[in-house]
Amino acid sequence: MFDIGGVFISMRMAFVIPLLISTFLTLSPAQQVAVDMMPLPTEYKLGRGALKFDESFSVSLSGYKEDRLFRAVERLLTNASKQTGIPLQAKLTGRRMATLTVHTEHGSKPVEEPDEDESYSLEVDASGARLSAATPLGAMHGLQTFLQLIAAGPGGFHVPAISIHDRPRFSWRGLLIDVSRHFMPVEVLRRNLDGMEAVKLNVFHWHLSDDQGFRVESRKFPKLTGMGSDGLYYTQQQVRDLVTYARDRGIRVIPEFDMPGHTTSWFVGYPELSSGPGPYQIERRWGVFDPAIDPTRDHTYKFLDDFIGEMSKLFPDHYFHIGGDEVNGKQWAANGRIQSFMRQHGIENTQQLQTYFTHRLQKLVSKHHKAMVGWDEILSPDIPKAIVIQSWRGQDSLASAAQQGYGGILSSGYYVDLNWPAGRHYAVDPLSGAAAHLSRQEKQKIFGGEAAMWSEYVDPENVDSRIWPRTAAIAERLWSPENVTDPQSMYTRMYQLSWRLDFFALTHNTNYLPMLERIAAGRDAASLRTLADVVEPVKDYAREELALTPATQLTPLNRLVDAARPESETARLFSRTADQFLAGRCQDAALALELRALLENWRKVGRALEARSADSSLLREVAPVSGGLATIATAGIAALDAIGRQEPASAERLAAQAASIQAAQKPTSAQLLLPLAVPIQKLVEAGGNACSGR
Ligand code: ACM
Repeated sequence: MFDIGGVFISMRMAFVIPLLISTFLTLSPAQQVAVDMMPLPTEYKLGRGALKFDESFSVSLSGYKEDRLFRAVERLLTNASKQTGIPLQAKLTGRRMATLTVHTEHGSKPVEEPDEDESYSLEVDASGARLSAATPLGAMHGLQTFLQLIAAGPGGFHVPAISIHDRPRFSWRGLLIDVSRHFMPVEVLRRNLDGMEAVKLNVFHWHLSDDQGFRVESRKFPKLTGMGSDGLYYTQQQVRDLVTYARDRGIRVIPEFDMPGHTTSWFVGYPELSSGPGPYQIERRWGVFDPAIDPTRDHTYKFLDDFIGEMSKLFPDHYFHIGGDEVNGKQWAANGRIQSFMRQHGIENTQQLQTYFTHRLQKLVSKHHKAMVGWDEILSPDIPKAIVIQSWRGQDSLASAAQQGYGGILSSGYYVDLNWPAGRHYAVDPLSGAAAHLSRQEKQKIFGGEAAMWSEYVDPENVDSRIWPRTAAIAERLWSPENVTDPQSMYTRMYQLSWRLDFFALTHNTNYLPMLERIAAGRDAASLRTLADVVEPVKDYAREELALTPATQLTPLNRLVDAARPESETARLFSRTADQFLAGRCQDAALALELRALLENWRKVGRALEARSADSSLLREVAPVSGGLATIATAGIAALDAIGRQEPASAERLAAQAASIQAAQKPTSAQLLLPLAVPIQKLVEAGGNACSGR
């Protein structure tokens, strides 16, 4: 469709000249819109006025050119068109006509590497936009920034006048998706790669094997998927296509084959690799299991040599992740042959045996021209410095690895399966904690970090809602300057990004209502939404502790805990309003009214849903949570009453209310939290003191 010789891409060329006259739009300072870029650029300065964005919009490419850049421009046009509803039709035009000119200096490496130049500059004024970058990677980042800058205003869609110089703080900005616990079809991965491109993440870490499934076709060892995947795996062609899709978006793909533990699915077809008697079945439960690869047999290394050889051709990236986490050593300790091997070789414990395995594995990975990446546990004396440590256990191990000269990436603090608020992830910096005391040179060994989407409690329907929009906060931490830390600004921009991501076909927002309709049995899902909007799934690993029966791979993920957002924006905003009200010593009558209206609605909806528990088993489960919402809302209303009447509640009454709030927020087997309990408790306390005239 695009003629590389012709160089230029534009829309509706015939109309370009007349429309140029109307391409200038001036905004008064009062009309100046906030810029919602995420991640926030390294340096930017808003100018005066804006560039009009309408159907005359056109783009030209100059300098270095390759197909990938043309496709990136095509994506910009498609996404800008979806985002604005303005039809944009690509046709060739001359450069002087283009609204946005993109200049690229030179190509990037044939296989992307972590140290490449990803910088770009973008200048926008009323007459046009100029994007320039050293490589296509920078150009693509700049196009995403431009897309985020397109905003609606009183005069129509426009891009504010701005000057941007941008480059990443860290070179390794990743997202791990576990496709073993729950398989994720290719289209799920594709839309998440689109989301990654939007926030300038550049590493897709593909966790391809674990106890619960082996997910990539091996021609050499067909029983890996033949017996270890339930037929849910990626063909080699699908892998190649996804790697191409990722490269098109400036994203590296790193496969992880977790070993020697987390390997039950390998042993279903190849029990001879294991350290126990077998036979094996695909593991359906969650947790850490005993089966582990036998590190003492030559057969194991012959198998892994062949396997890594095959996979290293399929995955072009220089890095190859071998896992290495959570080996409990029980199969090794229980195997007489392995025990005698350890004695013969002076190996004193199973941890040392894992080190022996890691060293031999490293040689195989290196033989196939890859650098090994592994979790904290692989760090051991004398392992070659070319390996990279991915820290899941804490920042200290990363700092210690850097001191010893190893490269590292941080994932501790970035586990999005734990349902933390975005602000908590945002506050975790790869160079804070123990890493803050490293020398300049040692700090350079910390390449960045990765968000991790472990998939015990997500499936293709709700996985996006755990990744997005919170992963954007982690992406900003890894891209933007260290001093970009204001959580209010982050939240504002994150929610602006969130709806834009709907146009990338991500389903974090669009699957919410259908999931609620299912629970509500099709009746008045709007009320259930009111409840869903103010609950959160329990945090960390509390879901395991609260389950009536342990969840498995076959447990449906169709409950309110699966639909509810990890972080309630409604509760966060209520909390902010309550804080504002309390900071003003409860004098602001408008705020009091706003809080009261919300609380009254929650009381009404909570009671109504509680009464509907016979409608569906899924609704019955949340009846206590609905009741809890009504209870805390009632306490909040009573607090506002006390404040309004200037009659401090008695100590007994305060204690009783605190106890009822405490009881209402105690998580049950519904595995849900009521984050409103915290601000409501503050209102109750205010009802007993400062605000009540005491
Ligand atoms: C891990 O979370 N076990 C890497």
